[in-house]
Amino acid sequence: MGRLNDKVAIVTGGARGLGGAAVDALCAEGASVVIADVIDAAGQERAARLTAEGHKAHYVHLDVRDSAQWAAIVEDTLARWGRLDCLVNNAGINIPIDIEEATLEQFQSILDVNLLGAFLGIKVVLPAMRKNDGGSIINVSSNSTAMVLPTTSLYGASKAALANLTKTTAVHCGLRGDHIRCNSIHPGMHLTEMIDNPEVQALPQVRALKSAIPMGRMGLPAEFGKVVTFLASEDSSYMTAAELFTDGGLTVVSFADPSRG
Ligand SMILES: NC(=O)c1ccc[n+]([C@@H]2O[C@H](COP(=O)([O-])OP(=O)(O)OC[C@H]3O[C@@H](n4cnc5c(N)ncnc54)[C@H](O)[C@@H]3O)[C@@H](O)[C@H]2O)c1
Repeated sequence: MGRLNDKVAIVTGGARGLGGAAVDALCAEGASVVIADVIDAAGQERAARLTAEGHKAHYVHLDVRDSAQWAAIVEDTLARWGRLDCLVNNAGINIPIDIEEATLEQFQSILDVNLLGAFLGIKVVLPAMRKNDGGSIINVSSNSTAMVLPTTSLYGASKAALANLTKTTAVHCGLRGDHIRCNSIHPGMHLTEMIDNPEVQALPQVRALKSAIPMGRMGLPAEFGKVVTFLASEDSSYMTAAELFTDGGLTVVSFADPSRG
């Protein structure tokens, strides 16, 4: 028996990377999972693999910036599986750039996906979650809310705002007696498909950040997936408005160990 048998989840940006790992982990715990993304081939491939393995997974095209697509995916999920228990707002983009180089258009494009996309999702799932007397909303923020570089100007601001939106949502739902919890996850450096290659690993900035991680290694996507299933399940039943850092200790460390390469 999985911890999430009979539960239904939507994961945005679920086709690959950390979102893909969250999808795999939720399925492994017995959940029915809607993979929502804009990269259709990768999303369909993941859904087909999981279905072939005996899990319940389904791919739907969702651009998180589009409120009509949000309404449609929730309606489709309720029609297909009868309920909605969990939303993982994971879709995100990054434009590494400092404040002087950054343009308003770049900032707007990051806010549209990382913040306003999650906002649209939260608004549309709340009524659906109330129908089954509760749920869990998990917003994927970043450790850049607490650890900044000049180039995290736009990205960090969007993720800090998302963490704050998480808390107001949590308090709103708590005070209404909704049994809907809302928490944020703040990943540090994880070894996703995009950076799991020798070329990226050799970049000086990647090597420097890696050497500063107290646990001495980057996180595995599957480790992130376990945190998602924890927040989705009743194991975290008294947690709401929380920030969970999955970063190997990187965010709080105040020095790099010079003996590490
Ligand atoms: N990988 C890390 O180390 C790390 C660290 C901190 C935070 N994060 C956050 O974790 C989340 C996942 O990151 P990742 O590394 O797996 O990135 P990724 O680029 O591999 O995955 C992001 C996913 O979001 C999807 N997406 C982008 N725009 C979208 C849109 N408009 N609508 C729907 N889907 C859209 C992409 O197609 C992709 O599948 C992001 O929110 C990111 O900011 C990642």
